[in-house]
Amino acid sequence: MCGIVGYIGRREANDLLIEGLHRLEYRGYDSAGISILHSGENLKSKIKNLKSKNHLVTVRALGKVENLEKKVGEKMKGSVGIAHTRWATHGKPSEKNAHPHTDCAGQIALVHNGIIENYNELKEDLVKQGHLFASETDTEVIAHLIEEHLKEKDDFEAAFTEALKHLRGTYGIAAVALSQPNKLFVARMGSPLLIGVGKDEYFVASDVSAVLAHTKRVVYLEDGERAVITRDGYVVKSGKIIQKKTVSDVEWSEKEAKRGGYPHFMLKEIFDQPESFADALRGRLLPDEGTARLGGLREVEKRLEGIRRIVIVSCGTSSYAGLVGKYMLEEYAGIPVEVEVASEFRYRKMMLDKYTAVLGISQSGETADTLAALREAKKKGALTLGIVNTVGSTIARETDAGVYNHAGPEVSVASTKAFTSQLAILALLTLYLGRKRGMSLVTGQRIARELLKLPRLMERIFVQSGTIKKLAKKYAHRKNYLYLGRKYNFPIALEGAIKVKEIAYVSAQGYPTGEMKHGPIALVDKDALALFIMPLDSVYEKSVSGLEEIKARGGTVLAITTEGNTALEKKADAVVYIPKTLEMLTPILSVIPLQLFAYHMSVALGYDVDRPRNLAKSVTVE
Ligand code: F6R
Repeated sequence: MCGIVGYIGRREANDLLIEGLHRLEYRGYDSAGISILHSGENLKSKIKNLKSKNHLVTVRALGKVENLEKKVGEKMKGSVGIAHTRWATHGKPSEKNAHPHTDCAGQIALVHNGIIENYNELKEDLVKQGHLFASETDTEVIAHLIEEHLKEKDDFEAAFTEALKHLRGTYGIAAVALSQPNKLFVARMGSPLLIGVGKDEYFVASDVSAVLAHTKRVVYLEDGERAVITRDGYVVKSGKIIQKKTVSDVEWSEKEAKRGGYPHFMLKEIFDQPESFADALRGRLLPDEGTARLGGLREVEKRLEGIRRIVIVSCGTSSYAGLVGKYMLEEYAGIPVEVEVASEFRYRKMMLDKYTAVLGISQSGETADTLAALREAKKKGALTLGIVNTVGSTIARETDAGVYNHAGPEVSVASTKAFTSQLAILALLTLYLGRKRGMSLVTGQRIARELLKLPRLMERIFVQSGTIKKLAKKYAHRKNYLYLGRKYNFPIALEGAIKVKEIAYVSAQGYPTGEMKHGPIALVDKDALALFIMPLDSVYEKSVSGLEEIKARGGTVLAITTEGNTALEKKADAVVYIPKTLEMLTPILSVIPLQLFAYHMSVALGYDVDRPRNLAKSVTVE
């Protein structure tokens, strides 16, 4: 999500860190910051009332790394430091929320990637103990927690280690301390972190692309490991045990490294989904209570109880997520839900009242039509809610309440990981509203536990990536593509079709399987490919009839079904499998083969996957 760079050596850290941040900019960012530890001699003329010889200087800036670079200037002299580009998760993008964060005394500075799930509890305790917070971030608690432990330990490494024990969630952390001017402290739990090994110098980075210009020798930290790095070496520990780490040689070019070794961002983002999906659930799912805790809705909890209807407004892929949400919310929360394309909704005469919640779903949080629809809804007295990926975006700011996806920046124009994270939030919302409206504890627990399994189940689909690639190549030149699904998988038919349209530029239709005979079946001939999304669910038999109708008319069928249903291989021309899960959650898995199919088709046809023609990532005009 965010980017971390650190340096300890004999060169000026400032230049190297800024350069490293520039190399991480492709990940998306909204602000950046840097802290340098340096000796007092350089500062005499620059900083008044300098008490100690060493000094820790932190500079942050909103927006591009370039803004930070301008602000930093001369005063950042020193050869130990840390830096960060932020992509907001807790607290809007602003200078005060940018990293590095410091403790009350300004003796510690640290940068963090990941999400601290229990930061609210920790912050409450720390405030009671007298700590003063300067930001709205989850990260700042770590600095104060270390400061608190320093009161007892008087040894930075021990206090750092102790603080880590209290954190729940994910982190990649790099820290510096005034009391330890020749050391860098790092730790990893669920968020990537590596040490770049140079000659008498070491780097720290969340991503190898930040260090490749200086070294190709890296040590990857594992979850639960922490390290103390000096100019002469590093010691990696897990608990009390010193770990012997292997130094790996990175063979990627700098360009490849930017995309984590993947040839395109879209493929990277498809493969990011187990992680981004887990991040969307993190700290929100209460499996034993069979419900979800959605902090962003706390303020409107009372109003939500009186809601009688939900209208979902969104565009493109986000509106297909909304359609899946409609099926989930109606079946499990018993609330009538309408899904409206925002560009239509905004110009219709809308029947809205204070008992209606209008829910905007948007990856960018800036889509003009969705924003306008929400503004209209607000004017008419409806409760407005958002499911938004980009923290601090206009939709996030203007809605009455909402939930962030936490999917991280999505660079490729074709949406993939944002879509599955939207489905994660809609499933959480279903649990949250459903349990308040009669969903049984057992049902809630079953859904919650199944949600937790999904990241692992997604990985099982990736194993078939090679098969899907071959199929995409084989079928890349058909005249017509018909995507067909029923019930929960009808929106996935729409999503599968939009993906190939936008990146492979072919004519594709998404339809409910049952609607086929009312028109689109006329398109079927030997040049048509029908993609059936038909897991073993409550409408499976009906989907089989639809498939037979296509086969009877000479069409080719590629079916996506549940693992074990090998009988389908006799009926379809090709079959791709998804693991078994609850019917309401099947779209979260069935969309993945279709994302891969579209990706491989685009590559096979030689198109620019990440930047398709005529499209923009954020559609801020009508
Ligand atoms: C398709 C795609 C678009 C967006 C749509 C809405 O892959 O990316 O259809 O889903 O433009 O964008 P957001 O979600 O940013 O409002």
